[in-house]
Amino acid sequence: MSRQPIIAGNWKMFKTGSEAKNFITELMPLVSHALARVFVAAPFTALQSAAQAAKGSQIVIGAQNMHDAVEGAFTGEISASMIKEAGANFVLLGHSERRQFFHEKNDFINRKVTRALSENLTPLLCVGETQEERDAEKTSKVLKTQLEECLSGVSNEQIEKIIIAYEPVWAIGTGKTATPEIAQEAHSICRDFLSKKWGRPVSDKVALLYGGSVKLDNIEGLMKMPDIDGALIGGASLQAKTFAQIINLVR
Ligand code: PGA
Repeated sequence: MSRQPIIAGNWKMFKTGSEAKNFITELMPLVSHALARVFVAAPFTALQSAAQAAKGSQIVIGAQNMHDAVEGAFTGEISASMIKEAGANFVLLGHSERRQFFHEKNDFINRKVTRALSENLTPLLCVGETQEERDAEKTSKVLKTQLEECLSGVSNEQIEKIIIAYEPVWAIGTGKTATPEIAQEAHSICRDFLSKKWGRPVSDKVALLYGGSVKLDNIEGLMKMPDIDGALIGGASLQAKTFAQIINLVR
């Protein structure tokens, strides 16, 4: 089964609108022959300038979070239609930093997934275990529960539109990448779960990305694994040159 690889950057709380514009302008010519699809998750305030700069290129701009309601009295929150109008085509949901620092739970993330789908925004759903959960041999159970609860009510037709990122919490921003074998094992747990729930032909189409300290020197080993279809990259996505080098290593 061939799935087109995706390399997604997650800028987190870095880059203003003008910095985003400069970054995209620098990145575009560097990745014009890339085989991977290139995604960039920018801060809300940089979405519009990033999307404008990326016009006419294959770079897809997305947001890092959103609220599940259409609109309403939710001070400080951003809706799917606001994100879309700013030029985003995908949205990160359930990133471990949202879970950890902002106490987002699976049922809330599930409502966001549903909302994103109904507004034609591609959800990029993040799942992953903590170090304590891995040490207690709970990785498989944690991943299945996150997928079960975050994807509740998603139809056969919708699941194909979702991208999933396995991001072990212990590997995010720590420099401690999962080995290709550890990552593959987790990805195959996710793929099997999707297959049991939605059937093999459908689950074979879902892109599963790995995230957690992906860099120039580990991307190739990870991408060799059968169930790893790309990467979600934080720190190493902040410099256009480095990010482009990683993207261009994906064959
Ligand atoms: P990192 O972040 O590449 O800096 O570990 C990945 C992520 O949080 O998505």
